[in-house]
Amino acid sequence: MGFDGKVVLITGGGSGIGADAARHLAKLGAKVAIVGRNENALKEVSEQIKQSGSLTPLVTVADVTKDAERIVNETIMEFEKLDVLINNAGIAIVDTVVDVDMTKFDHVFNTNVRSVIKLTKLCVPFLEKTNGNIVNVSSIAGSKAIRNTLTYCTSKAALCQFTKCSALDLAAKGIRVNAISPGVIQTPIFGKDLIPPEKIERFLSNFKNKYIPLGRLGEVADTSAAIAFLADNDAASFITGVLLPVDGGSMAAGI
Ligand code: NAI
Repeated sequence: MGFDGKVVLITGGGSGIGADAARHLAKLGAKVAIVGRNENALKEVSEQIKQSGSLTPLVTVADVTKDAERIVNETIMEFEKLDVLINNAGIAIVDTVVDVDMTKFDHVFNTNVRSVIKLTKLCVPFLEKTNGNIVNVSSIAGSKAIRNTLTYCTSKAALCQFTKCSALDLAAKGIRVNAISPGVIQTPIFGKDLIPPEKIERFLSNFKNKYIPLGRLGEVADTSAAIAFLADNDAASFITGVLLPVDGGSMAAGI
């Protein structure tokens, strides 16, 4: 895999899946732009990348729901081109159709869907020039209904469909669009509003035992490897419009 000289823009690059994808792609030679709201977290990831001997990333402190133009402009001003867009930033909430809060619903959809569509639209002219590609970070929740996560599941279903529709729209421009659909990957997302802290360990252990045929939880290294594969124009040149599960077999087991 060669990312030498490739410019990769990663949203939600300050933690979890996005941070590790940034570290991994930088190690493979990419010039990385990381975007997020938490400046300290982004700086820490940037420092880790620098310390590992890779090129120092561009850090853009921004909210994907509000600052799409600035995110793209800063990346192009710094690197003068774009090869890969990784739409990773996302949030999850617990709700059902009975108690759904429409303000929270709008916030999740703004983050997980609307901002992805807007960023993608803004990046298309640059990706067209480089025969670039897009990797969206969706979820198995985009294909499977999971109890008590109505808004999250529907937002990821929209992202899955956006991946396929935009792959068709952009094929003639030479831009590939794919998504990974992670299962349970150990990241800070579970420590947020999703599961009460005292229940996280039990949830993860139950999930692993019941729903992951490979018998272990996912690591960010698993998602980084899949993202790098799909983003590699040599390895994945004939692949577009796919939703690649990175789930230890959960989907195959019909979770
Ligand atoms: P995380 O919470 O560590 O990372 C999400 C990142 O997105 C954070 O850095 C957060 O600050 C950023 N973000 C959220 N809203 C933002 C906004 N408005 N503007 C800029 N940045 C924003 O969690 P994780 O797990 O790394 O999540 C990354 C993606 O992976 C998300 O889209 C999530 O839905 C998806 N995913 C995660 C799974 C898991 O088991 N960890 C499973 C399936 C999908």
